[in-house]
Amino acid sequence: PKELPLKGQKVVVTAGPTRERIDPVRFLTNFSSGKMGYAMAEAAANLGAETILISGPVSIDAPSNVKLVPVESAQEMLDAVLKEFDTASIVIKTAAVADYKPKEVHSQKMKKQPGESTIVLERTTDILSELGSRKTKQLLIGFAAETNDVLHYAKGKLEKKNADYIIANDVTEAGSGFGTDTNSVTLVGKHDVEVHFPHLNKKELAHQLLQTIIKLEKDELK
Ligand code: PMT
Repeated sequence: PKELPLKGQKVVVTAGPTRERIDPVRFLTNFSSGKMGYAMAEAAANLGAETILISGPVSIDAPSNVKLVPVESAQEMLDAVLKEFDTASIVIKTAAVADYKPKEVHSQKMKKQPGESTIVLERTTDILSELGSRKTKQLLIGFAAETNDVLHYAKGKLEKKNADYIIANDVTEAGSGFGTDTNSVTLVGKHDVEVHFPHLNKKELAHQLLQTIIKLEKDELK
């Protein structure tokens, strides 16, 4: 029989980019395709979890065995995650959330002006840190997209955001990171856990990551 180690658990996955509006026709965003997050959600559902996929705007289809909650901005993603947080046992933050948003959102399309133009940005809420400060029993898994000193920064985020695991992604490596079908990551966690996963299809990688975490957590996931 198929093993369903996450049966009875609620898993919340965030995926994709966020969009931060400038005016009715423009926004700030990034290159996240949603593939890694959708793969994490599908893997969780295939392992038996009730899975909620909170996703920024992407052009791929959600797996049929998850509940999709579409959102646009970092603020909407935060609100959607908080709604599910108390009853979740695992939260996986694969989304590439914007760190900044325009301070002012223009209600009319901005007109061209002669010379330079400036958009003033302000910080969005760091969702993972917010969850880290609220968590009770939840297992918190973040990702870290880095271009240099990958493990160093990933371990820093583990501490600072009070996560249980960070999946560190060197996004400068070929076939890794944003938009690709494959990825290569290192799982870092408390108790000096450090497990490297070589280039794999994102779906296979997601499955292996969850299996590894389940094994590490065996006695704590209740
Ligand atoms: O979607 P794909 O094209 O498949 O690409 C996959 C990916 C590269 C987007 C993914 O593997 C990945 O690395 N996701 C995290 C990207 C990211 O935003 O990293 P970060 O180092 O900026 O953020 C660290 C963690 O904090 C992440 O879990 C992020 O979701 C979270 N965060 C960041 C900012 C913010 N305001 N709120 C957050 O919760």
